[in-house]
Amino acid sequence: MEKLALLGGPPVRPARLPYAHQTIEPDDIAAVTDALAGDWITQGPTVARFERALAERAGVKHAVAVANGTAALHAACWAAGLRPGDDAITTALTFAATANAVVYQGARPVFADVDGATLNLAPDAVKRVATGRTRALLPVDFAGLPCEYDRLLALAQEHGWIVIADAAHSFGGAAGARPVGALADMTTVSFHPAKLITTGEGGAVLTDREDLAERLRAMRHHGIRHDPTRPWKYEIPEPGNNYRLTDFQSALGLSQLGKLERFWSRRERLALRYRERLARSPFIELPALPDGVRHGWHLFVVMLHLEHLTADRDLVLQALRAENIGATMHYPLVYRHPFYARQFGYAPGLCPIAEAVEARLVTLPLFPAMTAEDQDDVLRALDKVCGHYAR
Ligand SMILES: Cc1ncc(COP(=O)(O)O)c(C=O)c1O
Repeated sequence: MEKLALLGGPPVRPARLPYAHQTIEPDDIAAVTDALAGDWITQGPTVARFERALAERAGVKHAVAVANGTAALHAACWAAGLRPGDDAITTALTFAATANAVVYQGARPVFADVDGATLNLAPDAVKRVATGRTRALLPVDFAGLPCEYDRLLALAQEHGWIVIADAAHSFGGAAGARPVGALADMTTVSFHPAKLITTGEGGAVLTDREDLAERLRAMRHHGIRHDPTRPWKYEIPEPGNNYRLTDFQSALGLSQLGKLERFWSRRERLALRYRERLARSPFIELPALPDGVRHGWHLFVVMLHLEHLTADRDLVLQALRAENIGATMHYPLVYRHPFYARQFGYAPGLCPIAEAVEARLVTLPLFPAMTAEDQDDVLRALDKVCGHYAR
């Protein structure tokens, strides 16, 4: 057996393969250059064009572009009117931004457990943590797999909750015939470079509701309400923020949006190839891929069968990285962060399924420019590392 790079052997590849990378092409650069030569540098007509294109792609009436996915979540929580005394149910298996946005409004994030196969919020677990204080539900399409929206929306309707879907991972995906973006009251997306399409930093909130769209537009511009008859006059009934996206970022976004389908197809092809190659591995469990949903393929996540390994997940990651495979881990559970333990008294054991999953999670590289040879390197490194630590 080949000696692990971690133990001084030669690595599987000479240079690091990242876990994610943006794809920027000459026409993307030309689009940004053109926008920079125009009259608008900050929010202008290209933002409006980008918003129309986003709304059309998602099959909703409104898209409100903002500075990043975190701003989108905060703006959505603000528009929903979350305030101190309110609870919002979400998953602990997400980037902390989802729960932080609830905290920014002075409300309390409440964590429901996940389904151990899909890694998304389990509707029954949501039911168990709901109380009279619950005002909102924030499902997250983990890794890109759309949640069980039919069941979640039915629960929300029954209890009068507003649903804010965090689709940072799943824009481009769908549930049946309904694209991600049209599955909740508001849907937030991110255009961070690791995501399906990028604007550098950027995000948007998608909604069919005119009242929410209007509040979102006010929130990203300090909460300002203009007097339409006297445009120099304005007032601020509630303070918002400066969460504007720029025209040159939107020019990049428009150009990238035209490539979403191509990027998605390439990701899907690589993801399905991973799944095929890993399906019979004794060391790897693949998350479920239910029928009738279109995965967004932002992340390629697997779960280690730790009972078949003498190493824990962190040692496997260390060994993969020594082989120059930029494998990583998404995510440490949100309630384990010191702030959440201190502020809300959350302790281990809160979401036992998510905790068991978290210890086994590995994210493997996935991005459109990755070649089949790059992917073979990942698979070889995984074989090498798991073979070395086989129990
Ligand atoms: C699930 C989730 N929500 C929200 C965000 C925040 O997006 P952004 O980085 O654009 O602020 C991310 C970003 O990685 C994310 O993964």
